[in-house]
Amino acid sequence: MQLTIGFFQFKPEFGEIRKNTEFIVNTLRKHNFDIAVLPELCSTGYLFEDKKQALSLAENTEGYFVQSLLKLAKEKECLIAGGFAEKEGKKVYNSQVLVSEKGILSIYRKAHLFYKEKEVFEAGNTPFKAIDTGKGFKVGLMICFDWIFPEAMRSLALDGADIILHSANLVLPYCQRAMFARSIENRVFIITANRFGKEKNSKGDAVEFTGKSQIINPNGELLITVGKETTGFFSVDIDLSLTNKELNPLNHLFKDRRKELYL
Ligand code: ACM
Repeated sequence: MQLTIGFFQFKPEFGEIRKNTEFIVNTLRKHNFDIAVLPELCSTGYLFEDKKQALSLAENTEGYFVQSLLKLAKEKECLIAGGFAEKEGKKVYNSQVLVSEKGILSIYRKAHLFYKEKEVFEAGNTPFKAIDTGKGFKVGLMICFDWIFPEAMRSLALDGADIILHSANLVLPYCQRAMFARSIENRVFIITANRFGKEKNSKGDAVEFTGKSQIINPNGELLITVGKETTGFFSVDIDLSLTNKELNPLNHLFKDRRKELYL
């Protein structure tokens, strides 16, 4: 099966949900694709001062961000995954929504919170399960720092995910290289949609994001990457048959696992 898959990279403006969302949607509307992945927290920006500020900007699935993605997915009959601050009562999750023309397919809540995210967000409570897109393939959802826990992508791949949709706000310089190994060891396509720019808050915290979004195939080949401060939507055409787990007639990537020897 042939698909066109891509990522959207930009520098969100903190707190500007409408402006950020409109920029994403207006840009995507000009492109043809089957899957688009947006960065983590792409509607609000990243560096919240505290829970209270996060709660004031968080939305549920009736909010402007998710509803805008739903409208676009319906219009273009495509899949879109993107990160947002999700409100549930008084709690805020660092979440990722997956939508198609059929509606919301899944919400993933970030399991592995990075550094001071622990002071703002609830730890995610959604399992690493592959999602059947209804289009003949499965995808897996992951957010940023989840990359450093190989169990996350392994779980998604073992559950049948062909393509990993990784929404990120990366600050450490390792992930882009680590994904080469992840793609080979799981034989999956990985789309990492990252943001760029700097943010600081009134508490004196500051972060800089690394850009360089990328797509890697199951052979660990870099299909596309962009610069640290490139804005826009970038896509490639892929052949899903490459996710086949038979390495040779005698080795199967998953059937050969020696679970009895692992901790
Ligand atoms: C991160 O998980 N956003 C660094």
